Amino acid sequence: MYICMCNAVTDHAIRRAAADGVHSFADLQARTGCSDCCGTCESEARQCLSDAVSEVRASLSFVHVTA
Ligand code: FES
Repeated sequence: MYICMCNAVTDHAIRRAAADGVHSFADLQARTGCSDCCGTCESEARQCLSDAVSEVRASLSFVHVTA
């Protein structure tokens, strides 16, 4: 699903960025251009990134516990 219509950034792209180590909104903007135009998507993009970062951290904790 598109989160940022101006720059065609999807929730998948945000989750992929988080998995690649993007954990701040500024870094997400630098990488994808998300929310650098009209800004309408900012709160949804921030929430999507926050959820994605939490998922990445949870999966890393799981790997650490089972390794
Ligand atoms: S919808 Fe994201 S900047 Fe306009």
